[in-house]
Amino acid sequence: MTSKPSYPEKTATRLVNGGRDPFAHHGFINPPVYHASTLLYPSAAEYVAHRARYQYGRRGTPTSEALADALAGLEGANCAGVALLPSGLAAASVALLSVLRTGDHVLVTDSVYLPTRKFCDEVLARYGIATRYYDPLIGGRIAGLIQPNTRAIFVESPGSLSFDIQDVPAIADAAHAKGAVVLMDNTWASPLYFRALDKGVDLSIQSGTKYIGGHSDVMLGTVSATAATWPRLHGLVDAMGLCVGPDDMYLGLRGLRTMGVRLAQHYASGMKVAHWLAGRPEVARIMHPALETDPGHAIWRRDYSGACGLFSIVLAPVPQAAVHAFLDALTLFGIGASWGGFESLAIPFDCASFRTVTPWAPGGPTVRFHIGLEDVDDLIADLERGFAALAAAR
Ligand SMILES: Cc1ncc(COP(=O)(O)O)c(C=O)c1O
Repeated sequence: MTSKPSYPEKTATRLVNGGRDPFAHHGFINPPVYHASTLLYPSAAEYVAHRARYQYGRRGTPTSEALADALAGLEGANCAGVALLPSGLAAASVALLSVLRTGDHVLVTDSVYLPTRKFCDEVLARYGIATRYYDPLIGGRIAGLIQPNTRAIFVESPGSLSFDIQDVPAIADAAHAKGAVVLMDNTWASPLYFRALDKGVDLSIQSGTKYIGGHSDVMLGTVSATAATWPRLHGLVDAMGLCVGPDDMYLGLRGLRTMGVRLAQHYASGMKVAHWLAGRPEVARIMHPALETDPGHAIWRRDYSGACGLFSIVLAPVPQAAVHAFLDALTLFGIGASWGGFESLAIPFDCASFRTVTPWAPGGPTVRFHIGLEDVDDLIADLERGFAALAAAR
């Protein structure tokens, strides 16, 4: 639960100051971490009156309020509240549940994060909510898929494996014209580079595990809501008893302070590595919307103010064993899922087994990179070692 922050500063300043009030805490710069369940009342009359600012650890503490306030400050004037959840996947599933009920229909991008897709197929289906997947590049033509019972449209832009950029404002216009709400997984850009609530999104989801935490040591999810969607979201989080541990909330708050400079470095290093990869004969295509050659570049340039360190490549055809040799030869890139930490990562992937509307035929093996905060020339040297191993194994 949060109120709108009153400070007018730019994003970098908000990242530093949001959710902090040192002189409310003896001058200490950071807010204290409240480990809390039971809260005592000074009298029976106060207990019965239910007017205390805090009522129970699960329902909010100064620590959760500090993080929610800091996050709300990044979203802009259309943010009425931010819910904190124990993971990014929980944020996506709870946001969906907050707007859907039995008999509803939801449109979900075919590029959606696979566990979110599983939640739709396995859990929403069990409660009588039908999911239809759509081509991420559909734009305003999504109007043709909206049925009388379509309550929500879920976008994820760009998709976190395939990097298809969606025309979110056009989708939002079509949704709102027919009374549907728009949910967005905005983890890739974050509100620093894509102000989702200003572009027509009603519920903006982030895996705080990624760049908010930034150090690969915390699981966290956030949902930022407009005035129209906040009451049901907040009510559902409260009714389901969902809350985040105090130390994890603190790690989120601590991560936010440096998120701007970290993201700027991930962006710059990611661009340098992507440009270098584009010149390699082993690479057939780069999937990175900030590159001019990318099919989503015009929309990215129109709507986004930056990019994070996550992108994919298509290799010129080689046996899968050669792709594994490439990955195994890397010493600075770890092989692991998730992303958004300080370290570089690389994984092989294949969307063919789960995409249902848009066939996945990239023309060669695909690899996703997360470009971390290491020296970028060291990363490039590491990739050169990988390509030498790939050549030896083909
Ligand atoms: C785009 C995207 N959304 C959501 C999630 C889920 O976040 P979490 O791991 O915090 O549940 C991930 C995790 O990899 C992701 O890549």
